[in-house]
Amino acid sequence: MILKKEKLAPGINLFEIKAPRIAVHARPGQFVVIRLHERGERIPLTIADKDEKAGTVTLVVQEVGKTTHELGTYGEGDTILDVLGPLGEPAHIDLFGTVVMVGGGVGVAEIYPVARAMKEAGNKVISILGFRAAELVFWEEKLAEVSDEVIVTTNDGSYGMRGFTTHALQRLLDAGRRIDLVHAVGPAVMMKAIAELTSPYGIRTVASLNPIMVDGSGMCGACRVTVGGKMLFACVDGPEFDAHLVDWDELLSRLTYYRDVERISFERWKRERGMV
Ligand SMILES: Cc1cc2nc3c(=O)[nH]c(=O)nc-3n(C[C@H](O)[C@H](O)[C@H](O)COP(=O)(O)OP(=O)(O)OC[C@H]3O[C@@H](n4cnc5c(N)ncnc54)[C@H](O)[C@@H]3O)c2cc1C
Ligand code: FES
Repeated sequence: MILKKEKLAPGINLFEIKAPRIAVHARPGQFVVIRLHERGERIPLTIADKDEKAGTVTLVVQEVGKTTHELGTYGEGDTILDVLGPLGEPAHIDLFGTVVMVGGGVGVAEIYPVARAMKEAGNKVISILGFRAAELVFWEEKLAEVSDEVIVTTNDGSYGMRGFTTHALQRLLDAGRRIDLVHAVGPAVMMKAIAELTSPYGIRTVASLNPIMVDGSGMCGACRVTVGGKMLFACVDGPEFDAHLVDWDELLSRLTYYRDVERISFERWKRERGMV
């Protein structure tokens, strides 16, 4: 049951849902697989926050295609048929020293629980939050609560630093700032660029991968990724991996495999609702 819905930015909604057992067991970096109704497809969503006492978990969802738009039509009091989780390996939390958390778009919500855990473990946390434009900025204050420093970038310079998250990270590197770990979550192209940036500096870098997932339990093979030459399943072996070892081009190509059917299914859904 959805207890709270909040619009964080155009096309980005927060849902607080009742899921007491998931709330108890969820750890930073884990996700759920949801199915809206009997005819719905399964999609993975990161557990962005939780409240064990209230028995709730928070999902932050960007509307990109049919299922995420359909979820956007759900409101408080509506029920999501299946919420399966917590799934995946939790993020590796340790005392590293200075940790730079990089979130791109909806990835900002996904880095929040990891940033909080990194801070609680005694790390200095610098969070770089990247958005396309000022109107899409969300959770800057929430990340500030668990970070020593927050840098916001917008592609068009309408808020914060103009440019991409890589530019902000490059600036820290150019200033000779000590960085012991970079943790990136966002579009695969962004995570690839971050990995390419940190590689020559030898900075340990992890990324939370976002391949297409179906069952989320290692059975279907949909989320196959190649890391360090080994075939792994992001849903059970990840989603966090050493970003310098990920075969990014394979991931980027696999993400587009179903683009035509995704588009057709979204168009049909919009037609059925008289939206086009
Ligand atoms: C571990 C993990 C955690 C994620 N956490 C979040 C989150 O917290 N918030 C959020 O907004 N998004 C998250 N995503 C991405 C989200 O699952 C997709 O945006 C969603 O599945 C798109 O479905 P759709 O029907 O709306 O769009 P579609 O039109 O079907 O697809 C649009 C694009 O989304 C991706 N996608 C489609 N189906 C899936 C699928 N079953 N699994 C993964 N990606 C898919 C593909 O790149 C596709 O091209 C996460 C993905 C993964 C793998
Ligand atoms: S989603 Fe099926 S194996 Fe990972």
